[in-house]
Amino acid sequence: MRVSVIGCGYLGAVHAAVLAELGHEVVGLDVRAEAVAVLASGHAPFYEAGLAELLARGTASGALRFTTEPADVAGARAHFLCVGTPQSADSGRADLSAVEGALTALLPHLGPDDLVVGKSTVPVGTATSVLGRLRASGSTARLAWNPEFLREGHAVHDTLRPDRLVYGVEAGPGATADVDRLDEVYAAMLRDGVPRVVTDFPTAELAKVAANAFLATKISFANAMAEVCEAVGGDAVALAATMAHDPRIGGDYLGVGLGFGGGCLPKDIRAFAARAEQLGAGRAVAFLHEVDEINRRCRDRAVEMVRAMAGGLRGSRVAVLGAAFKPESDDVRSSPALDLAVRLAEEGAEVVVTDPQALPLAQLAAPGLRYAVDVVEAATAADVLVLATEWQEYRSLDPLAIAEVVRRRGVVDTRNVWDLEAWRRAGFAAAALGRSSALPPGLGAAEPDHGSRADGVAPSR
Ligand code: UDX
Repeated sequence: MRVSVIGCGYLGAVHAAVLAELGHEVVGLDVRAEAVAVLASGHAPFYEAGLAELLARGTASGALRFTTEPADVAGARAHFLCVGTPQSADSGRADLSAVEGALTALLPHLGPDDLVVGKSTVPVGTATSVLGRLRASGSTARLAWNPEFLREGHAVHDTLRPDRLVYGVEAGPGATADVDRLDEVYAAMLRDGVPRVVTDFPTAELAKVAANAFLATKISFANAMAEVCEAVGGDAVALAATMAHDPRIGGDYLGVGLGFGGGCLPKDIRAFAARAEQLGAGRAVAFLHEVDEINRRCRDRAVEMVRAMAGGLRGSRVAVLGAAFKPESDDVRSSPALDLAVRLAEEGAEVVVTDPQALPLAQLAAPGLRYAVDVVEAATAADVLVLATEWQEYRSLDPLAIAEVVRRRGVVDTRNVWDLEAWRRAGFAAAALGRSSALPPGLGAAEPDHGSRADGVAPSR
């Protein structure tokens, strides 16, 4: 099928590349000429595993094109709206100006039988107002809402093999044809048995925000237990493992540590709370404010743990391992790791940050920090090493090798992936969020073991 994808960021570029891979003829439209030029040359403008290969293949075969010219989307039978909906500058609400802009660009080129498909994460009620705009313009094109659940770092996999497909469709005689058209787009996934839920607009819009609110709540629950464990000397990682054994709870998104960041969970829970308030249902999701607060406190607690480990931040040299909001991504939006680095520097520490992929974006977002190309450079002459994003290469660091370059031996694991005993055997004082309120009395002193790592608790899905 000939399709268009409007907005070629993290969501749209992946969606376009995957649809081309599935055999569709795809044109991607974006207002950012620079990103379009990179995509059109078959390259990814951001780091996402597996995307570059798909882009190279799609652009080489001609199945995938990118453009800044709205007229180029004419003739597509489905137009996917994949633009960003960031948090507004002055409130928790979502900024829908890109959705408005995409519609303005699309309307003059819509055919009478086209299907517009919203994929952006939007406040509930947006689809109805988009439909209103379509009708007010005199268009007879149809609208569906088809939220996307992809995780950055796994975006290609999640788009090719989603857990579910959700179609929000306009009630009435045209609904069956809308479902058929989406089924044609997603025929390969449906053949593989991916479950499909057909519903109304508000439920489809809520499907995304409810899922993200639940995931954020689960993470904050684990981190709330970590605060309690720190107060009583318990081990929140072992505690989460005990919970994970209960199949009704499950171990995913119970990873104790620095909390959630990125372009979705933080802004989505704020936008959801703001929208529910507007709808008079604010009480129903008032707990999301607390979820957000618990998440913020993870960063505060990490600052205090590093301060204690360093014996004061002013003048201490701290190596922060990780800047991306999670591994396998170069995204630093609302990154807990980068935020922690900035906070430590503000409190007087001499901070050096490293990351395998996110340094260019981190340098743009936090130009005042010092950056190092690798762990050894960052750790050289450091007083404390802080693991802030659990990249595989940091998980598998050899404490004995790092001991050679540091000035003082202290580590803080904010993602609960290191074997603290191994660090202690190498002469390091080691602490981890949620695993003890007590730090060793002096650097180099061993802390009692608080149990083994929590098997079965996955830091991310
Ligand atoms: C999320 C949703 O997972 C996805 O379905 C939706 O489409 C977009 O938002 P993403 O933002 O890519 O995806 O990241 P995700 O892997 O969910 O992680 C979000 C944050 O939570 C990261 O900062 C991660 O480090 C943190 N996290 C995750 C935890 O702190 N603990 C966990 O147990 C899991």
